[in-house]
Amino acid sequence: MANSTPARYMVTSALPYANGPIHVGHIAGAYLPADIYVRYLRARGRDVVWVCGSDEHGAAITLRARKEGCSPSEIVDRYHAEMQAGFAGLGIDFDHYDRTSAQHHHAFAQEFFKTLNDKGTFEVETRQQYFDEQEKQFLADRYIKGGCPKCKSDGAYGDQCEACGSALSPDELIDPTSTLSGEKPVLKETSHWYLPMGRHEEWLRDYIENGILDGEQHHDAKAWKAHVKGQCRSWIDGGLQSRAMTRDLDWGVKVPVEGGDGKVLYVWLDAPLGYITATQQWAEKTGRDWKPFWQDADTQLVHFIGKDNIVFHCIIFPILLREHGGYLLPHNVPANEFMNLEGAKISTSRNWAVWANDYMEAFPGRADEMRYVLASIMPEQRDAEFTWHDFQARVNNELADVLGNFVNRVLVLTSKYFDSEAPAISTDLTAVDDALLAHINAAPEAVSTAIERYRFREALQEAMGLVRAGNKYLTEEEPWKVFKTDPDRVRTILNLALQVTATAAVLLEPFMPDLSAKLSGALGTEAKTWDDAGGNLVAPGTALGKLPILFEKITPELVEEQVALLGPSAEEAGLREVPAQKVETSFDQFQSMDLRVAEVTAAEKVKGADKLLKLTVRTGLDERTVVSGIAEHFKPEDVVGRQVTLLVNLAPRKIRGVMSQGMVLMASTEDGGLRFVTPDEGALPGDAIS
Ligand code: MF3
Ligand code: ZN
Repeated sequence: MANSTPARYMVTSALPYANGPIHVGHIAGAYLPADIYVRYLRARGRDVVWVCGSDEHGAAITLRARKEGCSPSEIVDRYHAEMQAGFAGLGIDFDHYDRTSAQHHHAFAQEFFKTLNDKGTFEVETRQQYFDEQEKQFLADRYIKGGCPKCKSDGAYGDQCEACGSALSPDELIDPTSTLSGEKPVLKETSHWYLPMGRHEEWLRDYIENGILDGEQHHDAKAWKAHVKGQCRSWIDGGLQSRAMTRDLDWGVKVPVEGGDGKVLYVWLDAPLGYITATQQWAEKTGRDWKPFWQDADTQLVHFIGKDNIVFHCIIFPILLREHGGYLLPHNVPANEFMNLEGAKISTSRNWAVWANDYMEAFPGRADEMRYVLASIMPEQRDAEFTWHDFQARVNNELADVLGNFVNRVLVLTSKYFDSEAPAISTDLTAVDDALLAHINAAPEAVSTAIERYRFREALQEAMGLVRAGNKYLTEEEPWKVFKTDPDRVRTILNLALQVTATAAVLLEPFMPDLSAKLSGALGTEAKTWDDAGGNLVAPGTALGKLPILFEKITPELVEEQVALLGPSAEEAGLREVPAQKVETSFDQFQSMDLRVAEVTAAEKVKGADKLLKLTVRTGLDERTVVSGIAEHFKPEDVVGRQVTLLVNLAPRKIRGVMSQGMVLMASTEDGGLRFVTPDEGALPGDAIS
């Protein structure tokens, strides 16, 4: 089964979170490779469906909504539309693009969950979970941050460390804090439906390591990328922990069983089911049956994703599908690594990204150039890097100078010598001709083998290798010189050069569909597919059309313009990693705080407390005592005579035996230090601050 052609293919691309526009990192990771793969399969006449959609639940959405001060549904509506435009602009042509907020998706996900619940897939457990007392919310996933227990980097989320890709749970985080309030969370009990993944270790190991499922060969395990298997292995070897499949939130798919009030499905349960619901919608649209694509064993299910999604697609989703029963498991999950940009990690919040929509605005009608460059540097086995100078070099040197120049010469010479009528082979073939013909005939197989192994960079190199060979042939055979003495020889030369062009048009179609359409349009080979490709595509006598300009060079100015659009980096913009903004307060609440300018008249250490200073302050209203936790940062003599900002109507409180009447406002600095909040010169004790 591993090597034969299946009856059909079910291809998916990770549903992107609808919380920001699409950038080149997304495209190179999970969308362009799938688009290439699917275009290729179609060109081979295979039956294939490719679905995607917006992932509209989870903390990625609710946190974004909070940040932008609007509702989650406003966020997903905005980005659902914007992302689709980004994909379309780069020729990413899904058969169906759906969204998980759709009613049909909720209904299906709830049914699926109920079935699992009835089957005993879950264990309902009451456990302690981190809770933000200020925000009155349980903290899972991206609501909680801390040190990564695996790679020790800072800023890992409750579900995942973005630095090393490890999947985490909140209780593993080192020194966790709430991303809502910045506060340290407390532990509080709540009940959830847990997936006891430990039960599944054995079959998963055999499935991933050996491609064996239920004692039968399911797929060729050697065809899986090493880094994908490696991540799964380290996860399974670490022991699969139970994972909560529900959350205490109100945005998402409601838990449809008893006890589920106020809870929604974990986004990583509902989102992958979006692949199935999207296929169902596609089926409705096209009048086809969705079931064979998900349930018939002669289907290959392939998930295109980025490496941060590996465990969800190779472990959690397969467990859920298998527990439900009746569904296929992935045949391959060709995850890509990350794409960096100009020496730094792509970052939406820092605007360190090349946005699909911006690109199309700056380079209208030039989707192919970006597709070509991204396919050339695709992060298939390791992280890769996009730079605008490299983009320029590849477009100018490879697309314009080699591909564009070659094709243009072939058509111009055919027009000049043979009035744009494709010539026939008219002389005996030389050894050089034979070598070129052999190259033409071998290229389709070379490209398809690479694509079927998910090696898109190599596939593109194979296709471009043929173009380079054609270019070299033309340069060395010099038909413009030979024509004077031997026009028949020129017929042969141009015939072969035309066959190279026509075959390249077919082989490059998955990568550069617009270019391909232009070439086959000029050659009259629109109807030709992969299986025709080879040395005989252009019939002698065919009237050749005109070729539009294929590639314009990228000027240094354009490059500089694009580089200048990046950033500013957070630092340049004066942004830092600081505690999140607290929940909204009201004007009345603010007004109820009485803040005054005050002057410190005396200060001494509080006995037995390293951190506390006892201050005497003049408030204009009175002279009073305030205990302040600043002794580690300031000596008593440093503060006497200073003006400070004082909250004067804070309820008095006894601290270490000293009655404190008010609070001195301090700014905390990056390095953990403190600074006074001091009014401008000329202020007097008692001045009200409002
Ligand atoms: N939204 C997720 C991300 O951007 C991917 C979801 S893939 C799916 O990382 F399988 F859940 F759909
Ligand atoms: Zn980590």
